[in-house]
Amino acid sequence: MNHREALKHTIFKTISKSAAELNLDSYVIGGFVRDYLLKRGDAKDIDVVAIGSGIALAKQVAKNLPNKPKVQVFKTYGTAMLKLDDIEVEFVGARKESYNENSRNPVVENGTLQDDQNRRDFSINALALDLSQANFGDLLDPFDGVQDLEYKIIRTPLDPDITYSDDPLRMMRAIRFATQLGFTIEKESLDAITRNNERIKIITNERIVVELNKILESKTPSIGFLLLEETGLLKYILPELTALKGIDEVEGQKHKDNFYHTLEVVDNIAKHTNDVWLRWAALLHDIGKAPTKRFSKKVGWTFHAHEFEGSKMVYHLFKRLKMPLNEKMKFVQKLVFMSSRPIVLAQDIVTDSAVRRLVFDAGDYVEDLMTLCEADITTKNPKKFNKYHNNFKIVREKIVEVEEKDSVRNFQPPVSGEEIMETFNIKPSREIGLIKEAIKEAILEGDIPNEHEAAFNLMLEKGKALGLKISD
Ligand code: CTP
Repeated sequence: MNHREALKHTIFKTISKSAAELNLDSYVIGGFVRDYLLKRGDAKDIDVVAIGSGIALAKQVAKNLPNKPKVQVFKTYGTAMLKLDDIEVEFVGARKESYNENSRNPVVENGTLQDDQNRRDFSINALALDLSQANFGDLLDPFDGVQDLEYKIIRTPLDPDITYSDDPLRMMRAIRFATQLGFTIEKESLDAITRNNERIKIITNERIVVELNKILESKTPSIGFLLLEETGLLKYILPELTALKGIDEVEGQKHKDNFYHTLEVVDNIAKHTNDVWLRWAALLHDIGKAPTKRFSKKVGWTFHAHEFEGSKMVYHLFKRLKMPLNEKMKFVQKLVFMSSRPIVLAQDIVTDSAVRRLVFDAGDYVEDLMTLCEADITTKNPKKFNKYHNNFKIVREKIVEVEEKDSVRNFQPPVSGEEIMETFNIKPSREIGLIKEAIKEAILEGDIPNEHEAAFNLMLEKGKALGLKISD
């Protein structure tokens, strides 16, 4: 088959010409070809294999381009990269590789195109398009990758035990592609992942997180997490989640399986947000339930303060996986910490003051928190399902109302400590705290509006009650 229409971009002609000048063959390979055949839109990363030096080819291409872009050379890997507008082209010499038992750093030798295709991860990623002038656009598909694209199958070119143990990150890549593309992992491959799962330990956390994020960003993330669990990888990566598995029964009382519940919540939230951090919050919202689970005869199963425990666990999990310990982590922590708050609201009559308190505590995260809590409704009882959703609708409307009346989001006290000190001619003291707290409470309860005059009057009243005198 010829696919020269995939190579319309002028860069490919330049590569072809440059390779001819160096008297070597070159091919586009991997994700670019796969995504072209899947019609996933134009990929921005182009991988080029040279039968010879990839670095020399990159330099020749740069010389032939009108803007003479800079070539970035990665000597240790024998690769080179250049950027053209928003496109990144990576050049590598065809390799024959064998891997070291205890690391993913390969021992590299020069090889043929076939050698290079053999060492790729999946048949669908081993597809190559010829860039030579004579055969420009010819497809080279030694492992029936096109057929696998058609039948939606993830399959390794070589014996899967070799492919996965050569580079254990590929076990996660298989699951990630299955999730992103809605493909099935071939049985032999799935079995090999299960057999080799322990080898994921030699992969750096940073690379694991890249794959986890891609799974979370997919349309139906549960596909990936179920596969991670099924193959035994999840317990090495996110033991906090596997700990949620299972249903305990004591004296006829059961609790729900919080692992499968969590996956339902993640799939639900994926329909309403593309924000990966909000999706992380959904994934982790119940992790505190494993360590806080208790049974008592009186009340049955409880998960007392699991939100607090869970938010502490978020920090340790982010730290372990070398994820950013910045405002994104704090966002996830806060959402986990507050994840039960609106649920309580949805079960009851929604009062203005409860909504005001919610906005006060959640601040700018309140909309995301509502999105999380709506996704958390997984009851199979249609009556309850409708009731909760309707109540959340009311909560959302009330949030807007309450915000129009009293802006309690990012609350600033309408009467400052300075003003209290001046009014009563007092030094910093306990009374100031008491007055400020009383004003805040009155605003949140809806007893007074969030305005200076009303707050000032309340301050005078409280001051008097505390025995303070107004200074003249
Ligand atoms: N590859 C591999 N083993 C890996 C990583 C990559 O064999 N552990 C090969 C595959 O042929 C892959 C190519 O290198 O197609 C490029 O890898 P990468 O850019 O990471 O992935 P893509 O397949 O391009 O997919 P995506 O852009 O979605 O990550």
